Amino acid sequence: MFRIESFQSVLAVHMITILMFCSLAVSKGKEIDHRIESLLSRMTLSEKIGQMVQINTLNGEIPEDLNIRIREGRLGSILNEIDPETSLEMQRIAVDESRLGIPLIMARDVIHGYRTIFPIPLGQAAAWNPELVRACAEVAAEEAATAGFHWTFTPMMDIARDPRWGRIAEGFGEDPYLASILAAAMVRGFQGDDLSAPHTIAACAKHFAGYGAAEGGRDYNTAIIPEGLLRDVYLPPFKAAVDAGVATIMTSFNEINGVPSSGNTLLLRQILREEWGFNGFVVSDWGSMAEMINHGFCADLKEVAEKSIEAGVDMEMQSPAYADHLEDLVNEGEVPLKLVDDAVRNILRIKFQLGLLDKPSPYSARTIGKPSQKTLELAKRTAVESIVLLKNEDNLLPLSKGIRSVAVIGPLADDPYEVLGTWNRDGQIEDTVTPLAAVQALLGESTKIHFAAGLAYTRSWDQKEFKNAVKQAEKSDVALLFVGEEAILSGEAHSRAFLNLPGAQDDLIYEIAKTGKPIVLIVLAGRPLVIGEVAEKAQAVLYAWHPGTMTGPALADLIFGMESPSGKLPVTFPKAEGQIPIYYNHKNTGRPPENRELMMIDDIPLRAFQSAPGDASRYLDIGYLPLYPFGYGLSYTEFEYKNLQLSSEKLQIGENLNVSVDLSNIGTAAADEIVQLYIQDLVGSLTRPVKELKGFQKIRLEPGETKKVIFTLSTNDLGFHNNDMRYVVEPGDFHIWVGENSQSGLMAEFELIE
Ligand code: BGC
Repeated sequence: MFRIESFQSVLAVHMITILMFCSLAVSKGKEIDHRIESLLSRMTLSEKIGQMVQINTLNGEIPEDLNIRIREGRLGSILNEIDPETSLEMQRIAVDESRLGIPLIMARDVIHGYRTIFPIPLGQAAAWNPELVRACAEVAAEEAATAGFHWTFTPMMDIARDPRWGRIAEGFGEDPYLASILAAAMVRGFQGDDLSAPHTIAACAKHFAGYGAAEGGRDYNTAIIPEGLLRDVYLPPFKAAVDAGVATIMTSFNEINGVPSSGNTLLLRQILREEWGFNGFVVSDWGSMAEMINHGFCADLKEVAEKSIEAGVDMEMQSPAYADHLEDLVNEGEVPLKLVDDAVRNILRIKFQLGLLDKPSPYSARTIGKPSQKTLELAKRTAVESIVLLKNEDNLLPLSKGIRSVAVIGPLADDPYEVLGTWNRDGQIEDTVTPLAAVQALLGESTKIHFAAGLAYTRSWDQKEFKNAVKQAEKSDVALLFVGEEAILSGEAHSRAFLNLPGAQDDLIYEIAKTGKPIVLIVLAGRPLVIGEVAEKAQAVLYAWHPGTMTGPALADLIFGMESPSGKLPVTFPKAEGQIPIYYNHKNTGRPPENRELMMIDDIPLRAFQSAPGDASRYLDIGYLPLYPFGYGLSYTEFEYKNLQLSSEKLQIGENLNVSVDLSNIGTAAADEIVQLYIQDLVGSLTRPVKELKGFQKIRLEPGETKKVIFTLSTNDLGFHNNDMRYVVEPGDFHIWVGENSQSGLMAEFELIE
């Protein structure tokens, strides 16, 4: 009795706190609305349009015309001003010298860290750890805020099924569920609970939408996405970001089904505002509004301005359509003033939420010093968790710390720049600890370390140092080979048709392999590379992405067993470029290749009569399987999955399903396992993917330890968009798997009933 009473009173206190919090938020919202209206009523049309304009500065310079624009209230935001004095001076002009004193919102791309560089987002995704993603964003926000920024263009959450696309590096991979969880975590990290706090900044969910579906993986290219697929695969991370309270959204460069994103009413008005209730502001991507002329969607900048505001772009980045034409459009009656007012309301709302109009002196900016020990620890932990062990023949790894000699070879073994990855804008190479430095520090004097880069950089064809590299390998017990891609080979505008290791790196690996020394191949890259052949020359392969400032210490700890690898692939690795797009959550087709006798290219007799060899959807020369599937990654220990149980085998739509499995560490190392839950809806009114990730958990187990891992699955999450664009959960039979990657696992069945 006492317990129940005290429980009830605790509940009551909680309810009161929640209600107080909600009513505080509502009254704060009301107060902001009131202030917005009062400010708006005092603004001229030119000042309103000014808020809708963002431009890039030249760092350290304020050209006279810019000065004038700020003073006249004809600019709302600046991007990329990193000189603190210039930034403060521009802000001073806006606040002290413009008529209404509305501050500028200062923006910067802080994609995976500001001064402390964390793994690229695709690497962070491989850690399957939202808490870490949140923590990294928190540090990035604090550093960026200290440097004077209020807003960043992060996170990018474009689903990418094509590793030729360079920007795959900037997102969370191919899966909508994983990307949604991580996108929301990153938003929370940047924004915290209070945008006006000194250490938080506004985030931006980008690129809305479908940018990762660029044809052929060519950046900026056309995306053809049926609306159902858009809603089921490409949009969920954005919805998750909106639900997490993201302050801003950026349109994308591409068109979808003939409509460029900056002029896309379906995306920006219907889905974002009406269906999701987003109340932050929408910014175009760099020049993406004006590019609607190249797309052939607008004849000139005036039409660009008209179509963009009608579609719902609130702020224009870099191109001049709003600044040059919106006033005329309103005066001529082509664009209703209300559209301008609404856009300005959206922008001012975020400025108020950031507290930019509140503090007596809200503006500070200073150069950021070296990363602290604490942020370096976080960078190292994230890098450790992001690295994926792809191969470990005869348990070559971990190496013993007592090893007599080690060859450290490869163009990325001692390069402090390339391992920072794409979009490193403010990280400093002096902070990077390279693999060579870290291995030296870890092993000390007792191990002989023989270093040779072999190639000066990853694209180099110059083999004159090969001889020396081979000599160093011959003198050593094992060769650590650090290969991959330079930072600039992934990211924006850096798509590749061939995904092999660039330059003469393959040859370097083959030469070292001839020595017969065991090879640990460490690949540092911004995307999945086609590494099947070179991986065969190595006994162990670690896929490290671009891990950032603490690349070396993270790798050294993994190689020498201070840590066990736990990363799992957030994206499918193809055997060859010709298999792309290849992704785990594909459809079954009418002729699935599994369990069939497949005749391969060399089996086909000469002048064979036209037939359908194997009758399956696959390639004659490479089959249908990827090199490594989504979710794949090895460990230094072995995990055993047993006893998959469902709370019910028949359940009603709307109910929850509890799924449990016993996970045991049956090896010798303490390690983390990422337990993955997949489902398949066997029959749908529209065909369903062969598997869909619906849950994951990271579980740490000591050797010999067993834990029951429990998932609660809401049947409401098992639906999809039908042809009327209604989200439907259909009754019928489902398969469910719990296991270590998308191609394995214990399987059970359940039925959904109405
Ligand atoms: C990119 C965006 C980026 C913007 C501002 C564009 O080229 O597509 O992702 O945020 O530039 O730097």
